[in-house]
Amino acid sequence: MTASHEQDWDNYWQGRAAQSSGEALIGVGIEDNARLSAFWIQIFQAMPKTARIADFACGAGSALKHAHGAGFSDLTGIDIAADAINVLKKAIPSVKGCVSSVTSTPFIDDTFDGLVSQFGFEYAGGEKDVLATAREMARLMSPSGVFAAIAHMKGGAIEKESLVSLNNIQQVIDSNFISCAQDMFRAAYAADESLSPQTQEASLKSLIAMGQAEGKIVLWLRSAEAKGNEFARFAHYLVTSTREMFERRKMLPLKECLQWLEDMEGETMAYQGRMKSMVEAALSKEMTQKIMTVFADSGFETSEPEPFYFDPSELPVAWTLRAKR
Ligand SMILES: C[S@@+](CC[C@H](N)C(=O)[O-])C[C@H]1O[C@@H](n2cnc3c(N)ncnc32)[C@H](O)[C@@H]1O
Repeated sequence: MTASHEQDWDNYWQGRAAQSSGEALIGVGIEDNARLSAFWIQIFQAMPKTARIADFACGAGSALKHAHGAGFSDLTGIDIAADAINVLKKAIPSVKGCVSSVTSTPFIDDTFDGLVSQFGFEYAGGEKDVLATAREMARLMSPSGVFAAIAHMKGGAIEKESLVSLNNIQQVIDSNFISCAQDMFRAAYAADESLSPQTQEASLKSLIAMGQAEGKIVLWLRSAEAKGNEFARFAHYLVTSTREMFERRKMLPLKECLQWLEDMEGETMAYQGRMKSMVEAALSKEMTQKIMTVFADSGFETSEPEPFYFDPSELPVAWTLRAKR
């Protein structure tokens, strides 16, 4: 794990989308998902209300909010991003927040009775870091401890959707749409100011380049892969809004248009980073078994990792992992 990993997640949690939704996986159908809620309600029902609960890589606390709703009061959220903890504490002020990597936390042994994680601990890094995290979770657990997690699955529906999104993002990046749009605005404003043949010609050239870039995206948006995909919706918004802004440019300062395009570029890169990290976090079956072995070696009774479905007629989205002392 690197300092930039930490920075990436801080940037993510400072982003508008995460702050306003309070969810880390916006756009992949997990907001207020009834099956996720049912999973956590069932897990917390089986624990005494006095249990000390910790959420590993809690983000804004999607799992903790169920514990809070069920009447648990000793709640701790651990996340590498200080901004995630800030968002969490706004939602549940009584939560104890801990900014730390889940691979190694500042808590002493036997600190928690319930250790949960939703699309969380598997973000710790590669195999070495994820197994170190599993050892850390086992260390922190009390003799009556329970571990329950929902983790990304290699070959699952979220990974598949993320790969499609990555491909869609690449189409937008490869089209050079944003830099062509920036050139088009600059040239058009210059041409509006001066009617010299040079500025008119430069504006015309930039319009042609922009048309080509837009054509590439529009063609891609019509493909089967783009249908219903979250990033494709973003790309559609980018193209139509750029057009609208260009038509209304007489009412807008150039600086504002360029700033908007720069923000869209930032959103695109953040989206790409988020999709990449989801794909990298996805656990193979073999990896889930290695994680379970860590718990078994620490004296836990483990269950076979099971696929978790949003819709049983479609691909599973995740693994459920459980262990208890
Ligand atoms: C996909 S989000 C999930 C957050 C939350 N569990 C949820 O379901 O909304 C992954 C979280 O892992 C955190 N994270 C990434 N690497 C971490 C690490 N090494 N230690 C602690 N947290 C980490 C990120 O800051 C982010 O909040």
